Amino acid sequence: MFGLKGRSFLTLHDFTAEQINYLLELAADLKAKKRMGIKGNSLAGKNIALIFEKPSTRTRCAFTVACVDEGAHPEYLGKNDIQLGYKESVKDTARVLGRMFDAIEFRGFSQQVVSDLAKYSGVPVYNGLTDEYHPTQILADLLTMKEHLGTLKGKKFVFLGDGRNNMGNSLLIGCSKMGINMTIIAPRVLWPSAEHVAICESYAKESGSKITLTEDIHEVIGADVIYTDVWCSMGEEEKAKDRVALLTPYQVNQKLIDLVNNPNMIFMHCLPAIKGNEVTEEVFEAPYSVVFDEAENRMHTIKAIMVATLS
Ligand code: CP
Ligand code: NVA
Repeated sequence: MFGLKGRSFLTLHDFTAEQINYLLELAADLKAKKRMGIKGNSLAGKNIALIFEKPSTRTRCAFTVACVDEGAHPEYLGKNDIQLGYKESVKDTARVLGRMFDAIEFRGFSQQVVSDLAKYSGVPVYNGLTDEYHPTQILADLLTMKEHLGTLKGKKFVFLGDGRNNMGNSLLIGCSKMGINMTIIAPRVLWPSAEHVAICESYAKESGSKITLTEDIHEVIGADVIYTDVWCSMGEEEKAKDRVALLTPYQVNQKLIDLVNNPNMIFMHCLPAIKGNEVTEEVFEAPYSVVFDEAENRMHTIKAIMVATLS
């Protein structure tokens, strides 16, 4: 459907707004069916490998539950279970797994590894997070925005914090493709690369949206969505002291929310959150915080990706 069958899901760069919309609609449909107790079997007989070099709660559980809901078998392969990249090359591991599994999920450090898995396995590969991108999270975020805001086009989306991490990069692609105006508020040293911004500018031009990069927190005024993420992504723990110093002025707290001054604003975070750093407990627990809807939507959107690419 929509050219998705047999496709890998490595980065949102590879998908059109129409395909992203289709996945959101499919996810909403699968979510409604699950709520009604209607079981699917679109993935019956499929075996899905779940490779995790980095830890995970939501992504691992979302893939596992989505597989089981649709009749597939998920096989978890943690970093100590296989010898990916040290005793056995990525190319060889990919070719072995491709002979046994119908699809592979990979969470780890390198985007090159996830693309090599796709290149050599011959089966669809899903990026469950790399240092560069986190594309499955963005589908959950877009679905959550649709549920709470009604529409996506023309909304003002503000991301505060580490603007050049996997979430900043991927949200910029997702927002610019879907016609959402995205503002990144971060110290200049944590802005996404000029090269990445230029590519997303071309998407924004096509969808009629706007990208703003600024250090000024007053740019939150009128936001429909306030989004933040951890200040140190997995693998960057040694940067904690520097990041706290750099990013404390960009904390999402009640004072900042008051500055937004939009009664319909929602607060989002991909989780896990470090409360007291990027977000306060007060904001996290506030009625406008939709973080657990987002977490649940990881499962429905990941299910949609597997159904669309495999059945
Ligand atoms: N948001 C997210 O990817 O969460 P996990 O790290 O728990 O998978
Ligand atoms: N930027 C975070 C996202 C976690 C879902 C990280 O990579 O750790």
